[in-house]
Amino acid sequence: MLRGKDLLSIHDLSVEETEEILQLAAELKAMQQAGVEHKILEGKTLGMIFEKSSTRTRVSFEVGMYQLGGQALFLSGRDLQLGRGEPIKDTARVLSRYLNGIMIRTYGHERVVELAEYADIPVINALTDLLHPCQVLTDLLTIREYKGKNLQGLKMAYVGDGNNMTNSYMYGAAKMGMTFTAATPQGYEPNAEVTQNATEDAKATGASITLTNDPYAAVKDADVVVTDTWASMGQEAQHEERKKIFAPYQVNKELLASADKRVIVMHCLPAYRGEEITEEVFEANASVIFDEAENRLHTQKAIMALTMGG
Ligand code: CP
Ligand code: NVA
Repeated sequence: MLRGKDLLSIHDLSVEETEEILQLAAELKAMQQAGVEHKILEGKTLGMIFEKSSTRTRVSFEVGMYQLGGQALFLSGRDLQLGRGEPIKDTARVLSRYLNGIMIRTYGHERVVELAEYADIPVINALTDLLHPCQVLTDLLTIREYKGKNLQGLKMAYVGDGNNMTNSYMYGAAKMGMTFTAATPQGYEPNAEVTQNATEDAKATGASITLTNDPYAAVKDADVVVTDTWASMGQEAQHEERKKIFAPYQVNKELLASADKRVIVMHCLPAYRGEEITEEVFEANASVIFDEAENRLHTQKAIMALTMGG
């Protein structure tokens, strides 16, 4: 179903396609752990354009492609002619002549949309200022491992900045029928159009999407609590100001007291201890958080196999 398609946003996926990715990710993980070869993309190549920093995304895509039997090329935005002003639409058409797929991490979401429009090979969004779909699909896989496969009605609370992660969580929760609440300071809510789209998507699955400024209300009885940095890439200059505004939104022991007893805390990383999460809460949930990091590999292998395979 996903063959030849782009993965720009979870909103574009059907419920079945979302399920297909999560299912294959779990299968590929089991195969890798059992030492079973799965060179589904033998002879295929992925170009990875990075206009922002990365640890997890770069390494997991590159290793993932290798494990699938293909080859990944790291393309720094600074070194490409793209960095000297070559148009995205030309870059897209040139790369389409060499590669079987493109992964891109950049600032404006419209750059990824344009790349996908002009490329005739699948384009995978590896983070924009608006969305981070690969991470949220990974988080859904991780939640399933801890809470069971059926996420219907599962209570998830996001606490912090209404950023690319929050936007993608809303789309992911809507596809899975989850009860999702985001608590952010006033003025730092997730994107309005995404909120509207996710609320619309939620109708089909029985999910609910709630925005609040009260972190305690969001976390009450939550099965999963997630947070992310208060200053995303590109917002470094606002970091000090944001630390003051976001202080009441720290995920700490006191905030978690009203969550479900079996609550898990997740973080896409990199984490800033003492800011969005305390050292104590981070370390108490380290096994979940590093499973989440590992699952980037398995989820992205599934995304590449489904979009670039065949
Ligand atoms: N979570 C995540 O995308 O990490 P990187 O920025 O290290 O790729
Ligand atoms: N919101 C963060 C996520 C990092 C993986 C950022 O965009 O920097």
